[in-house]
Amino acid sequence: MPDVDKNQLGRWQAVLEAQTGINLNQHEHILRKGLNPWLQGMSDDEAELTLARSESQPWQGLGGLVDHLAVKETRFYRNPAAYRILAQYVQRRLQDSQQARLLLDMWSAGCSTGEEAYTMAMTASELIQSAEQRAYFGVIGSDISSAAVKSARQGSYHVRRLQSLPDTLRQRYLVSDDNLNYRIESQLASRVCFVQSNLLDARATPKSAMDVIFCQNVLVYFRGWRQKQVLNNLVQRLKPGGILLIGASEGRGWQHPDLIRMPGDDVQVFERRRDGNQ
Ligand SMILES: C[S@@+](CC[C@H](N)C(=O)[O-])C[C@H]1O[C@@H](n2cnc3c(N)ncnc32)[C@H](O)[C@@H]1O
Repeated sequence: MPDVDKNQLGRWQAVLEAQTGINLNQHEHILRKGLNPWLQGMSDDEAELTLARSESQPWQGLGGLVDHLAVKETRFYRNPAAYRILAQYVQRRLQDSQQARLLLDMWSAGCSTGEEAYTMAMTASELIQSAEQRAYFGVIGSDISSAAVKSARQGSYHVRRLQSLPDTLRQRYLVSDDNLNYRIESQLASRVCFVQSNLLDARATPKSAMDVIFCQNVLVYFRGWRQKQVLNNLVQRLKPGGILLIGASEGRGWQHPDLIRMPGDDVQVFERRRDGNQ
């Protein structure tokens, strides 16, 4: 492992931040820990070359480094307040649609290993089934980390990772492989898909407009101005009348002329105006 000096460390931090938004300026030890396996076995010259190449490459070139450095902590039903808001929204849409067929497109932006996207799907599925209405929903989960996306697609979780999920949902939407590992049952899984995608890229997947966007515990690692930049891009992906949910401490002070701030504890909720710019 080459000796990464202060100057190189600063350059690595700058590359990481410019390409992913993740700011580890105050977390030198995390950056060093992530760089260790990345630079393992390289001479000083090779490490310098890798750094110089990364500085001029698109973000995909940082693949393994991002997998090591991105904080991927997540869990099913992580923030119950967010799912209560989602349930209210789905209920309202079901009531409004009456005889018409309801279509709901949802996005978990920065989905990590998939728990958030699957919980969104479970929440919608529960309400749609009990309403016995003609309705269809799809959830797309996106994340910059290819390792996270791979794991999300597998949809297989150790029993320990299901602790936050209410028993009824666990019984309905997960099947046990061997009493220790559970996987998302196939019907729910068929409504959820995952893509590797960078939130800094305004034109990245998903391209279609969404009814619901969750972007929680992602922007907290970005600088304030960049949080606002990403949020402004997310607004462009929201259908009129659609809702955007972000963490309670993210995007502090952010406002957008096309959005109305809705009441919400432990989560910030915004609804896109029906008469705004599109
Ligand atoms: C702490 S997890 C949050 C997971 C989930 N949203 C939740 O609240 O439980 C943050 C995720 O954001 C992803 N992420 C960080 N920067 C990103 C970017 N520029 N584009 C897309 N995903 C990003 C990380 O890879 C990580 O999986």
